[in-house]
Amino acid sequence: MLDIDWKSLPFGYFKTDYNVRCYYRNGKWGELEISSSEYINMHMAATCLHYGQEAFEGMKAYRGKDGKIRIFRWNENAKRMRRSAQGVMMAEVPDEIFREAIFKVIKLNEKFVPPYGLGAALYLRPLLIGSGPEVGVKPATEYMFMVFAGPVGPYFKEGFNPVEMQVISDYDRAAPNGTGHIKVGGNYAASLRPLHRGKQEGFASVIFRNSADRRYIDEAGPANFFAIRGDTYITPDSVSILPSITNMSLRQIAKDMGLKVELRQVAIDELGDFDEVGACGTAAVISPIKRIVDRDTGKVFEYCKDRIAGPYSTKLYVTLRAIQEGAEEDIHGWNTIVE
Ligand code: PLP
Ligand code: COI
Repeated sequence: MLDIDWKSLPFGYFKTDYNVRCYYRNGKWGELEISSSEYINMHMAATCLHYGQEAFEGMKAYRGKDGKIRIFRWNENAKRMRRSAQGVMMAEVPDEIFREAIFKVIKLNEKFVPPYGLGAALYLRPLLIGSGPEVGVKPATEYMFMVFAGPVGPYFKEGFNPVEMQVISDYDRAAPNGTGHIKVGGNYAASLRPLHRGKQEGFASVIFRNSADRRYIDEAGPANFFAIRGDTYITPDSVSILPSITNMSLRQIAKDMGLKVELRQVAIDELGDFDEVGACGTAAVISPIKRIVDRDTGKVFEYCKDRIAGPYSTKLYVTLRAIQEGAEEDIHGWNTIVE
């Protein structure tokens, strides 16, 4: 029996029994291998170390009310990883290999999938790296794809309790025609310093503006931003943000709930007009935001009355979680049961 306090799991690395790996050599992918080592053996001139040839994904497997394990929209993560690979000239992982890898890693670590209803999940981290050596700036000829997994709790320690965020303009996460729309390590490197400062200043995360003219909201650290105004779900459209699979799903759920949906540029000047705001992503699910402080002007925007999440954010959160955990009908066919 595992001695895990599922209810108080942080979002972090957790050692499990197995991970899976697959190598791309001589122009083709090999067979998937199972490993119980947490380490990889790597060439010191591997392009991932020097030129950032690296992409990752984040996804969750949930234990349902019926005891079954479900994985949410895995094919969207596979597609996004292919787009990331194209973006930094890596070998693309075929969807069949991606699927086999994530299903295998879940099955092998089945005992680490948290029980239903405790707010925890098995987080999967697919990772693709340029492993071949180069010293000139060019793509590698060899790649390594791996997936590891571990049980996690909520990304923000507040869980579904509202957090405070800071909107900043002195750091950019990604350039307009850069790599913001794909999930490559460099974007996260660029966010470390502002996120660290934001935390030191008392905020759960920072909200980045679009880097072209800084008049619009891009995203909320490692999550997309959304707002509710009246009966409309509003979320930024920008070339430099990561197209979130959670956000895409919330837009559909919002429509199903009878809300209007706007995917458009969202001006900083609109922050005072919203009834509810939040951050969304696989790790964060929905994190309601109670307060946004503009670091430049000191202006404060308050949202959650009585410090609790607004009604639409709550309904979106409850519905999404219920679909992911098999407690509500999966009308869009988003889940795959892991057998
Ligand atoms: N934005 C960034 C920068 C992220 O790292 C993530 C997490 O993957 C998201 C948004 C949310 O995307 P998704 O809902 O696909 O997890
Ligand atoms: C996710 O939501 O899965 C992420 O990847 C966000 C962050 C932990 C990088």
